[in-house]
Amino acid sequence: MKILVTGGAGFIGSEFVRQAIKREIELVVVDKLTYAGDLERLKEVKDTISFYKADITNKEFIGYIFQKEKPDVVVHWAAESHVDRSILDATPFIDTNVKGTQVLLDIAKKHDIEKFINIATDEVYGELGKEGEFYEDTPLNPSSPYSVSKASADMLGRAYYRTYDLPVITVRPSNNYGYWQYPEKLIPMVILKALKNEVIPVYGRGENVREWLFVSDCVEAVIEIINRGKAGEVYNIGSGEERTNIEVVKSILDILDKPESLIEYVQDRPGHDFRYALNIDKIKKEMGWRAKIRFEDGIEKTVQWYIENIEWVEKKIHYLQQYWKETYK
Ligand SMILES: NC(=O)c1ccc[n+]([C@@H]2O[C@H](COP(=O)([O-])OP(=O)(O)OC[C@H]3O[C@@H](n4cnc5c(N)ncnc54)[C@H](O)[C@@H]3O)[C@@H](O)[C@H]2O)c1
Repeated sequence: MKILVTGGAGFIGSEFVRQAIKREIELVVVDKLTYAGDLERLKEVKDTISFYKADITNKEFIGYIFQKEKPDVVVHWAAESHVDRSILDATPFIDTNVKGTQVLLDIAKKHDIEKFINIATDEVYGELGKEGEFYEDTPLNPSSPYSVSKASADMLGRAYYRTYDLPVITVRPSNNYGYWQYPEKLIPMVILKALKNEVIPVYGRGENVREWLFVSDCVEAVIEIINRGKAGEVYNIGSGEERTNIEVVKSILDILDKPESLIEYVQDRPGHDFRYALNIDKIKKEMGWRAKIRFEDGIEKTVQWYIENIEWVEKKIHYLQQYWKETYK
């Protein structure tokens, strides 16, 4: 089996690449290497993959790659993924997440693809109150420009299944955390600030709830779905490990033995969804999959990894500061 992976130099995509290589799967990785992409994440597998620096919105180049590589399966991770950025400027989100997905689907339909795994997110469902959970057939009701762009891509994939019989499978994972996550996201940002004894900003009162899925668990679920998922179906992937943001922050401070006085509550993000929670009976029943890593273990491993890889994180932070200055001046 030959898999074409988009966004393979990103946080979750690179974990997918590492795990697929261990299973001796042939891989073609396509990534634009935006500020969020980094080939360092692929250093241990770089000699075993074919890599193309390419933008998924570039029809000609993506068409050429499909023609040349003839993949059997597509796993589409590439996206603009940071909600806060989408609030500042939705344009790259619509370009990559919507148009880029459409380009890939159009090209895939001209080739003999066995499966197209379209990675969506739990955020497409919108927000929940304190009770309840999202099922695969819950109507989509996204809130942020990011989640709207992901919901559009999600629906496009399902439309290509219905209209053209393209074997699209839609996957909606919950919040991932773990090694190599870009330090603009909550968990790595908190670890880094705590290590430097800097103030840790927390939106609102930190009461928003997310379901935390360790990145290797997410990728194992996607590999199961490649092997056993059915075309046209949607699969939620969650861990059941719900935590408020403030609980997450406090558990990191606790591991690092840092004081809670570092926390500073700041004005909430506009349109901030209160809670997401996924029902995962479908993947459990059909594939026997469930997350292996408990939050307490995963967060400990993650903190340890960031301590050991602090140089990489510092480099990213430096780059990020420059990037923010230039992009949002
Ligand atoms: N991180 C999470 O908690 C989470 C949860 C659910 C779903 N997802 C989805 O999983 C996927 C991966 O998320 P992530 O956190 O690894 O994201 P990330 O931002 O770390 O990585 C995205 C990758 O896509 C690449 N990319 C961006 N625009 C591109 C373009 N136009 N052409 C080619 N490559 C491009 C980037 O260079 C980067 O390597 C995304 O689709 C995201 O929406 C993420």
